[in-house]
Amino acid sequence: MFGAGGRVGRAAVAEARRRGHEVTAAGRADGEVTDPAAVARLAAGHDAAIVAVYDPGARPGEFFPAVARAVAQGLPAAGVKRLVSVGLASVLPTAAGDLLMDTPGYPQEWREFYAGHGAGTDALRAAAPDALDWVVLSPAGDFDHDGEPAGGYAVAPAAAGSRITPADFARALLDEIEVPALHRTHAGVAAV
Ligand SMILES: NC(=O)c1ccc[n+]([C@@H]2O[C@H](COP(=O)([O-])OP(=O)(O)OC[C@H]3O[C@@H](n4cnc5c(N)ncnc54)[C@H](OP(=O)(O)O)[C@@H]3O)[C@@H](O)[C@H]2O)c1
Repeated sequence: MFGAGGRVGRAAVAEARRRGHEVTAAGRADGEVTDPAAVARLAAGHDAAIVAVYDPGARPGEFFPAVARAVAQGLPAAGVKRLVSVGLASVLPTAAGDLLMDTPGYPQEWREFYAGHGAGTDALRAAAPDALDWVVLSPAGDFDHDGEPAGGYAVAPAAAGSRITPADFARALLDEIEVPALHRTHAGVAAV
């Protein structure tokens, strides 16, 4: 788990351990996720990786593509075949087909961040070899960090009002590790 100390990472580690998986909880002090050699070193001996990272000190348009290129190189080098990465709802299409960030009323002041996250997924699509079966999941709207988990989730198009707790979202992350259903795509996850 890259980003294990973060809000999403903590929920994913807890869900993985609840299911009986052995997890390496990696934070920045263990190695930069933008460094392919560090990724390979940390990922060695693992079946799958989850990435949920955010660096407030980095330019999003540089950070997220650098993460994508590093995991696309480092994970296959370590023999890891499955990657579930956490993306951003803003660059997902709504049911009507528009990107969420282009819908009326959606906050525009963080557009550079949205685009940077999207560039990360584009970089993963371009750089990941066939040996790496990846999926990017994001909330269909946003996280609800204070609410009670609904207990279930569904893959869903982007919707501004959709909310999911990290605990419910973590179920989707772990299901995509255990029984991969989505491949080389970015999908939204909504609580049900
Ligand atoms: N609406 C949405 O779709 C939505 C909403 C919220 C978040 N997200 C996305 O979900 C992801 C996780 O968010 P979060 O809230 O869990 O983030 P967070 O709480 O800020 O945690 C970020 C984690 O990233 C790690 N990290 C940062 N830079 C790193 C680097 N260079 N190398 C290795 N690790 C690094 C940090 O490690 P340390 O703890 O060691 O510093 C931290 O554990 C982000 O990509 C975020 O943009 C999406």
